Amino acid sequence: MLDDPAPYYPGDYRCQIFCCTFQRSPDARRSCGLNGSADLRDYLIARVRELNLEHVRVHSAGCLDLYCEVGPMMMILPEEVRYRYASRADIDKILLRHVIQKKRVEELLVIPKQKPEDIS
Ligand code: FES
Repeated sequence: MLDDPAPYYPGDYRCQIFCCTFQRSPDARRSCGLNGSADLRDYLIARVRELNLEHVRVHSAGCLDLYCEVGPMMMILPEEVRYRYASRADIDKILLRHVIQKKRVEELLVIPKQKPEDIS
């Protein structure tokens, strides 16, 4: 599945995905944890295993301080690309287009310094 011909070694994670699962109290500012991020992170982990993407590591993260109101948010390294996502279909899109095809999922991209009202 990798198009990088270099051999893979355990622990050689060429793609690391940080999913914000931070949860503020319900009466505070919105947060990814209140928008289902933990369940979606679990789905992402399951899909990475099913697809045998050994070079991908999924992490739970605290607040990425990135438009918490429209999350859940994730950041993918090494490219430092940020996506918002809301469903399993979004996760599948990100895995297929970003991780496997090495393209951007334009409709889910979040660009730092973007106005929050321009995201969605
Ligand atoms: S709470 Fe998830 S990015 Fe802030």
